[in-house]
Amino acid sequence: MVKGKKTLYICQQCGYQSPKWLGKCPDCGEWNSLVEEIETDTPQQGRRWSQRLGGATPPRPYAEIGNQQDVRQTTGIAEFDRVLGGGLVPGSVVLIGGDPGIGKSTLMLQVSAQLERRCGKILYVSGEESQQQIKMRGQRLGIEPAHLYILTETHVEHILNVVEKLDPYALIIDSIQTVYSDRLDSSPGSVSQLREVAAQLMMVAKGRSMPVFIVGHVTKEGAIAGPKALEHIVDTVLYFEGERYHHHRIIRAVKNRYGPTNELGIFEMTGSGLVPVSNPSAIFLNERPRGVPGTVVVACMEGTRPLLVELQALVSSSQYGTGRRMTQGVDQNRVALLIAVLEKRMGFHLSADDIFINVAGGIAIDEPALDLGVIAAVSSSFKNIPLHPEVVVFGEVGLAGEVRAASSASSRVREAATLGFKRCILPQSNQAGLESIDHIEVIGVRSVGDALEALF
Ligand code: TYD
Ligand code: MG
Repeated sequence: MVKGKKTLYICQQCGYQSPKWLGKCPDCGEWNSLVEEIETDTPQQGRRWSQRLGGATPPRPYAEIGNQQDVRQTTGIAEFDRVLGGGLVPGSVVLIGGDPGIGKSTLMLQVSAQLERRCGKILYVSGEESQQQIKMRGQRLGIEPAHLYILTETHVEHILNVVEKLDPYALIIDSIQTVYSDRLDSSPGSVSQLREVAAQLMMVAKGRSMPVFIVGHVTKEGAIAGPKALEHIVDTVLYFEGERYHHHRIIRAVKNRYGPTNELGIFEMTGSGLVPVSNPSAIFLNERPRGVPGTVVVACMEGTRPLLVELQALVSSSQYGTGRRMTQGVDQNRVALLIAVLEKRMGFHLSADDIFINVAGGIAIDEPALDLGVIAAVSSSFKNIPLHPEVVVFGEVGLAGEVRAASSASSRVREAATLGFKRCILPQSNQAGLESIDHIEVIGVRSVGDALEALF
């Protein structure tokens, strides 16, 4: 082995490193994901980092360091600003992940067109499409940017040379899986290449105070590494959610050094690009069936915004004696726990039934206040009694069958009232002060038993 070079086996899913090949990654459990990569030790790397990130500048008193919050730049798309935490921070590196075809390039082109009007030159580097293809997409979007530069290039050192000469306000890399550095021998898209390229982009971003957007595909199969391996390097990680076959697209912040996480941006994919959705709750409710057992509307919080979603449950007798539990958009373990609560505290016999739970609209909800919704929907389907269509619920449920308080109760109730709901069933401890909200009756409940009594 040449000195300074070492062979490593790296998991292409999660970045786990092993000195020898393994069939299964001990870290993420993926099979056959370890790939041999030659890592060249670059002793200069540490030095380059420290130079760019402040090693060469003297220490400064805390009080004299300027405030970055003040310099947020709006991207001109309010829903996108929201997921970024209120705008774009200069020098931040934003990773945008999502399935192929979900709209990452479309969003980036729309953002560039908005940004160039406000801030001047934008460099859009594509390793996937030709300049003509990008122009065709731009024409479809109806944009006429004057300071947008399109570069088709996959060699990161070349890209950085162009950045040096052009001096753009922001840089967009579409996608990181196509870009490589000649410092490493491994192929583009491998974990070591992704990390090297991301590290170089990060240094340039910080050094020039230039925001960088990195597009990354999320794929389960193949040799292309998932952006998961990059999450800890970049400042902000945004993921596209929602299914390709639904028109709306949800962008969620899963990591943000400059703002809250779990903030959502909701868009609709139209014939002329992504259009922000002004009233998201209405979108998730507009196909809601009325008078059908097993559906209920739940008032959730996504980041700082209330969102009403329709939760559906189907309880049907199983062919095999032991019921299956299948969920979409809700945590399966949480549902299993809530079903156990219904069996133990309410005496429902559900073990021989298949139970399916779905959040309509392809959105995933991960918050405890959804619990009461699961209880309501399963009970309604089990009893085969529809719930009143103008009722909305929320609240966390504990193992003793108690209903626990949820955060931001008043925003939830207000959102429900705005959308015309007449009654809200919520944790008793949240009720105080909410009676004054107009056009909606609030009913506080202490236990699952109380809740079912109020519902049926
Ligand atoms: P794209 O941005 O190319 O996806 P990604 O970069 O994430 O792979 O978007 C692809 C899909 O979006 C494609 O199926 C076409 C559709 N689309 C529209 O519906 N309207 C539009 O205005 C544009 C540009 C794309
Ligand atoms: Mg693309």
